[in-house]
Amino acid sequence: MAADNAVNAAERLRDLAHERVDHRFKGLPPDAEGMTVGELAAERRNLFTGGFTTPVLALSAEHLEHNLALMETYATRHGLSFAPHGKTSMAPQLFQRQIEHGAWGITLAVPHQARVARAFGIQRIFLANELVDAPALHWLAGELDADPDFRFICYVDSVRGVELMDAALSEAGASRPVDVVVELGAGDGARTGVRTEAECFDIANAVAAADTLRLVGVAGYEGEVPNASPETVGAWLRRLTALLVDFDKASRFADLDEIVVSAGGSAWFDAVAEAFSEIPELSAPVRKLLRSGAYVSHDDGHYKHLTPFNRVPEEGALHPAFRLWAQVVSRPTPHQAFTNAGKRDAAYDLDLPEAQVVRDARTGEIRAATGVSVTGLSDQHGWLRTEGGGDLAVGDWLGMGLSHPCTSFDKWQLIPLVEADGTVVDFVRTFF
Ligand SMILES: Cc1ncc(COP(=O)(O)O)c(C=O)c1O
Repeated sequence: MAADNAVNAAERLRDLAHERVDHRFKGLPPDAEGMTVGELAAERRNLFTGGFTTPVLALSAEHLEHNLALMETYATRHGLSFAPHGKTSMAPQLFQRQIEHGAWGITLAVPHQARVARAFGIQRIFLANELVDAPALHWLAGELDADPDFRFICYVDSVRGVELMDAALSEAGASRPVDVVVELGAGDGARTGVRTEAECFDIANAVAAADTLRLVGVAGYEGEVPNASPETVGAWLRRLTALLVDFDKASRFADLDEIVVSAGGSAWFDAVAEAFSEIPELSAPVRKLLRSGAYVSHDDGHYKHLTPFNRVPEEGALHPAFRLWAQVVSRPTPHQAFTNAGKRDAAYDLDLPEAQVVRDARTGEIRAATGVSVTGLSDQHGWLRTEGGGDLAVGDWLGMGLSHPCTSFDKWQLIPLVEADGTVVDFVRTFF
């Protein structure tokens, strides 16, 4: 059965190249209608001259590869296992490349995402949420039964949650227990997660009483620490590791092959690496699971400012991999211009896009977008302000950097993977 799943998953991945190019996918060349994605990729068209329409989001092939390799090296150097958060891209092709780059598994947030990952053969899933959805738990029990090699871990953060999980899994006739980690909240006023260590023990007791569940560790998300600073994040991470040690001392992890501790997005993995390096020897080997997701494309805004590599430049630097190309469709005054890319196309929840380069409509020359700034987004328009007359004309393409990978990927179903000279070498399919 496990082998069947692997064959189906490999086929599904290959089938992505057999999908037809058509109206479902924004930005793709109208004259490629009816070709398969693989056939179009094989033509190695140029993003600017190969018939693509605007707006179109481009993912840099070189920067993507660089980021994948850099985080593999980082995790290895710091003794961390890696389960990159898949909700960022929801792209099985990228999950596959993350696994090829040493990832232990993929982190996800909700049942649908887990189903996408399973459909594409992901064998280890860390669901960074409490899972109390009975139909999803029935599905999970079926997956675990059908494939002895499938490993699944999720959060628990309440006794009620444990009871609901136990009831649904018992009803489903689950034949092996679901592995759970107690989620420690990141402080007062933070998001999900248990607020006190005493409550964590109550939940561990509830798990111990449930035949359908097995406690394998603790986890949390330092990205939600209120007023995050190296001090507050470090202090919370040490609460998390102390809880792990206390659970172990209290024999909560008896008979495990490995104990799991997990934290870490893309803003504090240096602090996570440091705190996890201090974990003493426990009753079983400890799998230290990092869950960064945004690193994969990185960005030109939020994460550019927050990346730990700003603090440890000697360990490398991520490269922003997205560039959104939009066309100037109106230039009504010397200070105003409008593109055809709006909220449907660009992330806007953290920052507006950044005008970076202009491709001249007549000459094809690319120059810096000096004096051009994005001041707003409508649904289908980008508002630009041009200083000093800013050399921008109707028909020019504007290349923009984006802020926030997760809300960039989700606006595009098929994203051209583009080399530095503009050659489109492949397409990345997303499933949101
Ligand atoms: C629980 C959890 N873990 C990991 C991550 C990944 O963090 P990042 O997006 O900074 O890479 C997130 C992101 O929201 C998260 O919510």
